[in-house]
Amino acid sequence: MSGRRIFIKNSAFTIAGSLLAGVNASGRGQRYLKITNDADEEAFWEEVRMQFPLTHARTYFNNGSIGPSPYPVLEAVRLKMEELNALGEYKGHEDSRKPIAEFVKVPYHEISLTHNTTEGINIIAAGLPLKRGDEVIMTSHEHAGNALPWLNQKKLKGFKIKVFTPADTAEDNLNLINDLITEKTRVIAVPHITCTTGHLLPVQQIAELAHDKKIWVFYDGAHAAGSIALDLKKIGCDFYASCGHKWLLGPSGTGFLYVREEMFDVVQAGFIGAYSDTGWEITEERQMLSGYVPDAHRYDYGTQSAALSNGLKTAVAFINEIGMPRVESYSRGLTTLLRNNLANLGGDLDILTPEEEISRSTMVTFRLPDMNYRDFGKLASENKFRIRLVPESKLNAIRISTHIYNNKNEIENFTALVVKAMKG
Ligand SMILES: Cc1ncc(COP(=O)(O)O)c(C=O)c1O
Repeated sequence: MSGRRIFIKNSAFTIAGSLLAGVNASGRGQRYLKITNDADEEAFWEEVRMQFPLTHARTYFNNGSIGPSPYPVLEAVRLKMEELNALGEYKGHEDSRKPIAEFVKVPYHEISLTHNTTEGINIIAAGLPLKRGDEVIMTSHEHAGNALPWLNQKKLKGFKIKVFTPADTAEDNLNLINDLITEKTRVIAVPHITCTTGHLLPVQQIAELAHDKKIWVFYDGAHAAGSIALDLKKIGCDFYASCGHKWLLGPSGTGFLYVREEMFDVVQAGFIGAYSDTGWEITEERQMLSGYVPDAHRYDYGTQSAALSNGLKTAVAFINEIGMPRVESYSRGLTTLLRNNLANLGGDLDILTPEEEISRSTMVTFRLPDMNYRDFGKLASENKFRIRLVPESKLNAIRISTHIYNNKNEIENFTALVVKAMKG
């Protein structure tokens, strides 16, 4: 069913400026969180940079893979670990649930704490009642973390996956999806931001389109939490998975899954454990599970790390100290600077990240006309830049991610390297 063209009604996009007055110098009792200079923008970000043990021996442009944690997060993990081991206790793994829920603006009981994005994706892909004949819409730019859980369920259940390649405008992306929708479409399962090129999809409009047609919407938010301000209720999706270890700057081994309350009984909990249930019994006479808690807690199970949870909670507090709008505005500013620099170089330099502001975030992906991407990777590494190559989708490209510990000088130095590479 190829639908008529849809136009995005409100394409105006603004990034909230720095509205917050400053950073609490007391730093919530953390040893290193002591940002005091809020008057001068440059000095402020220099102080933020000092919060990171991240080496100065090279420039780190790979937050899209792993976001290095600042000292307060590392301290929070260490202190909790010591506390638990001093006491022989294990409680506290729930401590990041509420801060995460507040951060993405959903009620507490709709958040399940996972170990990474992929776990959340698997819970949804495996838990939805999909069958042969159903259709799922995805992109050709998936990370393995979103591709494999759906491909696995396709193999097990026999549904079909229909694919589009992200275009450079929100409107085109909406229309590409609309064109793939049929009466058999059950789920749209796409990234909020692609890992390959940093395309930001028009998630709110996609959810509106889908819900009009009774289609479930899942977003892989690995690159969104901590890079752009999130309001999941406003976006209107049914499910959303992300992790702590990228843009949130939290520890590896942390993640979250949002499940809209109305979906609790639609998504079957495949793995459950203590506190997932409303009562159970195994005796010689009786074996029963009475049901699941009316809470996304039904999807998480077993002992988790209270230390990592404390780290994630502190990572959210760290970002909140600065203010998510300010974090977003700063990181986007750096990406825009780099994108503009690259665009001004002209030649046949190929920028794969959209120009349209609402369709990109804090990553830029590009290809050089006369240099293999792997050779450029080597050159970048020799010149002390940590970047990410993008072999996915046969793009053979170069990806740069920017976050709050980066600065304009680093962007200019990197641009100079690109100029040098282009001159040969
Ligand atoms: C878009 C996307 N989805 C999923 C993942 C997997 O994330 P995780 O390692 O948290 O499972 C990644 C990791 O880079 C990603 O970029």
